Amino acid sequence: MKRLRIITPASSANLGPGFDVFAIALEEPFDVVEVEYQESERVKIELQLEGKYPVPRTLSENMLTALLLNIMDEYDLKGNLKIRLQKNIPVGMGLESSGASSVASVLIACNIFDLKLSQKEIIHLAGEGEKMIAGSPHYDNVTASLLGGFVIVPSKDSEPIRLDLDNNLRLSIAMPKIDLPLKKTEFARKILPQSVSLKQMCENISKASRIIYAFISKDYSQLKSAINDEVIEIHRTKFIPAYEEVRNAAYENGALVVCLSGAGPSILTITSEKAKPELVWKLCLILSIKRV
Ligand code: HSE
Repeated sequence: MKRLRIITPASSANLGPGFDVFAIALEEPFDVVEVEYQESERVKIELQLEGKYPVPRTLSENMLTALLLNIMDEYDLKGNLKIRLQKNIPVGMGLESSGASSVASVLIACNIFDLKLSQKEIIHLAGEGEKMIAGSPHYDNVTASLLGGFVIVPSKDSEPIRLDLDNNLRLSIAMPKIDLPLKKTEFARKILPQSVSLKQMCENISKASRIIYAFISKDYSQLKSAINDEVIEIHRTKFIPAYEEVRNAAYENGALVVCLSGAGPSILTITSEKAKPELVWKLCLILSIKRV
């Protein structure tokens, strides 16, 4: 018998202009996955669900087991697996709950079945799994869940990059209560433009470069303008009625960064010291007044 315990953190993907490229792993919430494996000539998975957030119980619909079954099929892996999934990451809120589950699936395959995969291959497999939820693969959230810190996804010919953020930075998340479309991420990707102008591309490269510069140099003076994305976010924030008010309130309270967390609807703020309770309360108040 083999046992395994995996912890995969939530993350905030994109950071404005870094669409599908940047993400930051969050200290909490995180999922906990416990696995017991016994040798067998057949494939049998028992799934036990715990935690605050409901996810599908059916193996082919649950992100973690559906991807694991695909991997076991692809690599011809067999055995009895008892999986206990503690889903602590809210689902469909832009905190990359599915990315955390995808990473856990691939890590089960690597550790239980000694599948030898490079970091980049793990990210690729997990990111392909995102297709089930988002309609198209993407690798930002899974890179952050796997590596922690601030990450830049691997490209075709390069490895992922991970940076440790300044310990003085504090991340807070505001979670609007809005009715979400079914398959929210797929919807939030479908509404995006399929092409951008050369001017927009240059602008976003400049902004994304400034974000990396800020995190490396700890000079945050240009972060606010750099994070302000006009290619992706503008199409998504119109579905969050109080977004402008929240953003203004957060900046008035000294936030360095305010942006959508992943495909939303959650909003990420970064402050330079321990997040002031009054800032978080102010954001929640605006969101509940607006009933978004
Ligand atoms: N980068 C992805 C998006 C994150 O914005 O669609 C969602 O999982």
